[in-house]
Amino acid sequence: MNVLVTGGMGYIGSHTCIQMIQAGMTPIILDNLYNSKNTVLDRIEKVAGVRPKFIEGDIRDKDLLTSALKDNAIESVIHFAGLKAVGESVEKPLEYYDNNVNGTLVLVDAMREAGVKTLVFSSSATVYGDPASVPITEDFPTSATNPYGRSKLMVEECLTDFQKANSDWSITLLRYFNPVGSHPSGELGEDPQGIPNNLMPFVSQVAVGRREFLSVFGSDYPTKDGTGVRDYIHVMDLSDGHVAALEKVGNKSGLHIYNLGTGNGYSVLEMVKAFEAASGKPVPYKLVERRAGDIAECWADPSKAINDLGWKAERTLNEMTEDTWRWQSNNPDGYPG
Ligand code: NAD
Ligand code: UD1
Repeated sequence: MNVLVTGGMGYIGSHTCIQMIQAGMTPIILDNLYNSKNTVLDRIEKVAGVRPKFIEGDIRDKDLLTSALKDNAIESVIHFAGLKAVGESVEKPLEYYDNNVNGTLVLVDAMREAGVKTLVFSSSATVYGDPASVPITEDFPTSATNPYGRSKLMVEECLTDFQKANSDWSITLLRYFNPVGSHPSGELGEDPQGIPNNLMPFVSQVAVGRREFLSVFGSDYPTKDGTGVRDYIHVMDLSDGHVAALEKVGNKSGLHIYNLGTGNGYSVLEMVKAFEAASGKPVPYKLVERRAGDIAECWADPSKAINDLGWKAERTLNEMTEDTWRWQSNNPDGYPG
């Protein structure tokens, strides 16, 4: 199966391409390299034994997309491309709505023109806002508190309306919880530019000596140890979830919505401890004020994906931290180039 993977050079997309190749699929990557590097392709080839075709370009370029879909006999699209930094989205809302919302509309328009009717979209648990309770099921109410989250919610709503009007399409919305970890080879991983916004890349940069200490945002939450609790999911499990979605519902018309999480919640301090154990390095931290917009706890009820997709997150917290450390210690400055 030829699958167009937008944003396939990025963190989750590159790992998913590897799992797709293992599953016998042919990923064709389209990425504008805004937040990724060319050398990712060398690493995918090294690990998977196949160098995917790469089209450098922007999802907002409709002519390019239409020809990419037609010329490569694409049957399905996995759509990762987009901007993802919450803080930046508050400063630059137009860029977020343009890349994430407009970009998706251009992509779907090109798919319609090329007759490609299967789409898997990268959504986020952020669409649940501040949930009334945990664990979270797919039918919880949705809301947004920042432009990034709103862009994901808007896309979900646009795609829902579009699928209603085009009932022969298969559209899958995958709501990721907190992706962490790296390919176990240590060849691929998360390579954030500048100061990491997310917990795990920050912790691993402290452990490798690039940063002095971690600021723990809030220690007075009503949680097990006062720090925020999240559903961290290994990026390899998340990648397998995309393969399962394509295989199980990619050929079934309809709108399919799944949480991709483990169903377990770990606190910030538990993550720090696990990382220290995996790396053998100390991770000094300071307890500071809560970060604006953060919630106390958030974890998934993954039953729907388990039942429908036959997919379950299987990697342990140890694997998440050990694999992150292997990537970080082998590549302290991220990808070359
Ligand atoms: P990433 O930044 O590593 O990957 C995104 C890729 O898309 C990058 O390679 C970037 O160059 C490319 N891109 C961005 N705008 C583009 C455009 N207009 N045209 C073509 N390519 C473009 O991010 P990621 O962590 O791999 O996330 C992938 C998707 O999953 C995103 O849509 C993100 O919002 C979503 N998501 C991520 C997380 C997370 O924690 N990483 C959580 C929930 C949802
Ligand atoms: C963040 C985004 C969310 C996105 C998700 C994807 C915000 C407000 N939300 O969620 O929209 O979908 O990433 O993974 O940015 N923490 C620290 N110190 C740090 C960094 C984080 O203590 O330097 C804490 C946070 O307060 C939180 C936990 O670690 O309790 C996880 O934070 P993070 O990795 O940023 O993810 P989320 O806040 O869940």
